[in-house]
Amino acid sequence: MSSFPSPVIRSARLDLREYDAGDAGLVRGLLEHGIPEALPPGAPSDPDEVSGWLDGGAQRARKEGTGLHLMMLDRAAGKIVGSIGLFHADWEVRSVEIGYGVDAGERGQGYATEALGAVARWVLTEGGLQRAWLTANTDNVASVRVAEKAGFHREGTLRRAGLEDDGLHDQALFSLLDDEL
Ligand SMILES: CC(C)(COP(=O)(O)OP(=O)(O)OC[C@H]1O[C@@H](n2cnc3c(N)ncnc32)[C@H](O)[C@@H]1OP(=O)(O)O)[C@@H](O)C(=O)NCCC(=O)NCCS
Repeated sequence: MSSFPSPVIRSARLDLREYDAGDAGLVRGLLEHGIPEALPPGAPSDPDEVSGWLDGGAQRARKEGTGLHLMMLDRAAGKIVGSIGLFHADWEVRSVEIGYGVDAGERGQGYATEALGAVARWVLTEGGLQRAWLTANTDNVASVRVAEKAGFHREGTLRRAGLEDDGLHDQALFSLLDDEL
C-alpha cells in the first residue's frame, strides 16, 4: 500500500496543509460562525468534538492511503476559508479524485481555483500521480467554472450519477494529466 505525505503547499494567498492537533482554535472559530461546509467530509459540527477529530479522523484518509484532507488557510487573514481533499487514490493507475468547498462568506474571490491549481500541480509532481480528476454537478456552475479555470479538461457527462437532497444530478467529469501541466 502507498500513502501521501503530509504536505504544506503554498499558493499566492493560501497554505494548503493538513488539519492537526494545534488547529482546534481555528476550527472552532469556523464552527462558531456556523459554517462546517468549509470543513472536510466527516468533520464534526459540534465544537466539543473538534479535538477528537483533529487527533484521529482528520488524518485517517492519509494514514489508510485513500486520500488526504487539507485546509485552505488564508495566510494574511489567519483563517480557514475552505477545504480541499484527495479521495479514492488508486496507486496502480496513479490517479486520485479532488474535491473542494469554500465557506459561503468567502466565495467568488478565487480561493477554490487557486487551491485546485496548486493541489493538482502537487499531486501530479511531488505526489507522484499521473491523473487528477473531479466531478461537478453540471448545474453547479461555480464548480464547473473552477475546474475550467484551473486548467482541467472536461471528459464528458456522467448521467444521473450524483444524488443530492433535491434528487439526481448529471455530473461533468474533468481531469488533468501530469504531461498537461
Ligand atoms: C464551488 C465552490 C468551491 C467555488 O468556490 P469559490 O472560491 O467561490 O470559486 P472561485 O472564486 O475560484 O470561482 C468561482 C467561479 O464561478 C463563478 N460563479 C459562481 N457562481 C456562479 C453562478 N451562479 N453562475 C455563474 N458563475 C458563477 C464565479 O464568477 C467564478 O468564475 P469567474 O472567475 O470566471 O467569474 C463554492 O461555490 C462552494 O464551496 N460550493 C459548495 C460546495 C461545492 O459545490 N463544492 C464543489 C463540489 S464538486
